[in-house]
Amino acid sequence: MLLDLIERRRVLFLGGKGGVGKTATASAVALHQAAAGRRVLLVSTDPAHNLGHLWDQGVGDDPVELYRDEVSGGVLRGVEIDPQRTIDEHLAEVGATLRDFMPAHLHPQVAAHLKLSAHSPGTHESAILERIAVLIEYGLDSHDLIVFDTAPSGHTARLMALPEIMSTWMSGLLTRRSKAERFGAAVRVLDGDDDPAKTSPTNRDQRIRQVLTRRKARFEMMRQVLADSAVCSFVVVLTPERLPVLESVELCAQLREAGVDVGGLVVNRLSPTDAGDYLAQRRQQEQRHLDSLTELLPGVPVDTLPLLTGDLVGPAAIRRLARELR
Ligand SMILES: Nc1ncnc2c1ncn2[C@@H]1O[C@H](COP(=O)(O)OP(=O)(O)O)[C@@H](O)[C@H]1O
Ligand SMILES: [Mg+2]
Repeated sequence: MLLDLIERRRVLFLGGKGGVGKTATASAVALHQAAAGRRVLLVSTDPAHNLGHLWDQGVGDDPVELYRDEVSGGVLRGVEIDPQRTIDEHLAEVGATLRDFMPAHLHPQVAAHLKLSAHSPGTHESAILERIAVLIEYGLDSHDLIVFDTAPSGHTARLMALPEIMSTWMSGLLTRRSKAERFGAAVRVLDGDDDPAKTSPTNRDQRIRQVLTRRKARFEMMRQVLADSAVCSFVVVLTPERLPVLESVELCAQLREAGVDVGGLVVNRLSPTDAGDYLAQRRQQEQRHLDSLTELLPGVPVDTLPLLTGDLVGPAAIRRLARELR
């Protein structure tokens, strides 16, 4: 299922409960596709990143090469999103604009305001969203497939609903800007201050409008990508246990509500049937959870991945898991 699904898609999100194997599965899928000759971008959106740990290599906010296949020509690059960098860059840009239009004695107040903004609710989340949108733009331009390894369920479900909210919010801000601009222009005329040489209010309005329009376009593009099931799909990863099953059912409902296609489920770390009584008994219990999963989510394709022996660290181990993909 999974291989069939990704061969026809450009953007794949993997989500699910913490610790079920999202990073491992995302890495295996990404490696498999790079080995098959595709240019793949693997992005971790989880603030508690572990892509670097799994690949046993430093990974940061700029793409680094994780794997290159000399035969097929495929390449895999990895990114761990650093929302703080996006926040700092955004606030630096806003600060520069504000300082340009404020008298020097108000500059300390601008700095104090920006410092507060950096810690205000939602700043972190919208920075992650903006970075995802930028990486989708960049990734679709220069890669064949983008694989997102996401944060645990609740966090990601909210993130998937955000582009819609953000682009509506941006539209509201732009409408309010238009009103403010018209009001400002009227006041200037009434004041007899319509000298075209004094262009600074208009300049300022244009710059604010430019920033808002750019962000709006970015969120709208992301919303379109998320809503297009021919381009983008979401795969829920879980382990065959009670809580991950329940959480996956909830996540699927939230994703569907946000208009995101759930392409399938990957049940990871399935115990072997032929490695002693202990694991065989465990497998029986796991089968019951698998059965209730298909009952609760009828029609959603399910793949399984075996519990591997040994630690899952480094490209060779990831390749072992990639060989199990179907
Ligand atoms: N199929 C598997 N077999 C053995 N160990 C696995 C398997 N999948 C994941 N692991 C291990 O389980 C732990 C959690 O996996 P990880 O991918 O980091 O989860 P998540 O990203 O969902 O939090 C890691 O130590 C990983 O190496
Ligand atoms: Mg992870």
